Amino acid sequence: MRKPLIAGNWKMNKTIQEAVDFANEVKGLVPDRSKVDSIICAPALFLDRLLAAVDGYNVHIGAQTMHYEESGAFTGEISPAALEDLGVSYCIIGHSERRDMFNETDESVNKKTAAAFRHNIKPIICVGETLEQRERNETKGHVANQVSKALQGLTEEQVKQLIIAYEPIWAIGTGKSSTAEDANEVCGHIRQVVESSYSGSAAQSVKILYGGSVNPGNIDELMAKPEIDGALVGGASLDPHSFLRLLEAAA
Ligand code: G3H
Repeated sequence: MRKPLIAGNWKMNKTIQEAVDFANEVKGLVPDRSKVDSIICAPALFLDRLLAAVDGYNVHIGAQTMHYEESGAFTGEISPAALEDLGVSYCIIGHSERRDMFNETDESVNKKTAAAFRHNIKPIICVGETLEQRERNETKGHVANQVSKALQGLTEEQVKQLIIAYEPIWAIGTGKSSTAEDANEVCGHIRQVVESSYSGSAAQSVKILYGGSVNPGNIDELMAKPEIDGALVGGASLDPHSFLRLLEAAA
C-alpha cells in the first residue's frame, strides 16, 4: 500500500520570516506520519531555517531544483552535495517552469535524478503535456517519453523510491484542474510505463502525484482515484489552512 503524499511547491514566494511562521503554524497540526507524508519544497534560501523549524515533526523539506554536478564553475547553482549536507531529503526535478524557462531537458532531468539518488535525495520528477499536445491527443505518448528518458539507467530499487508528478502544463496556476478521471488515466499510464520498463513491483511502489490547480475543493475526488497517490500543489500550498486541509483529505 502506498502512503499518500502532499508536496507543496512554494515556487518563488514568501519571505524567510513568512516561511518560518508557516512552518511553526502547521507543524503541530499535520496528520500523523503513518497516514500521510507532507513535504514543503521551498526556495533554497529558506531550507536551512525550515529544516530547523520542523525538526521532529511530520513535515519534510525539499528543494525546487538542483544541479547534477558535484561542484564546480556553475555560478548560482546548488549542488546535490550541499542539499544532502543540509539535510534536505526531497527535490523537485524537471518542473515544467524549469523546462520552459531555464532550459531543462529530458537529459538534464535524467542526470539530476541520478545525482539525487547518489546524495540520498528523493527526486520528485515532473512530467506533463501542453494544451496543444493534449488537443492533438499526444498526452500519453509525450508523458511516457518523458518518464522513460528520466528513468534511464536507474535501478529497480531506485525506481521504487521515486515520486513522479503528472502536471498538465495547461492546468498549472490556471484554476483549470484536470478532471479526476483524466488525471487518474494518465497516472495509470505512467505506472504501466514503469511496469513495462522495470517490474510490476516497481510500478506498485512508485508514487505518482497529480499537480495542476489542486485545492481544498477538488482534492477529495482526486485522492479517491486509485492511481493518484497524492498531489504536488503550488498556489494552494502557500496558505497554512489550505495546506492542512489538503493533508487531511489525503490522510
Ligand atoms: O508544482 C506545482 C504545480 O506547478 C501546480 O501549481 O497548484 O498553482 O496549479 P498550482
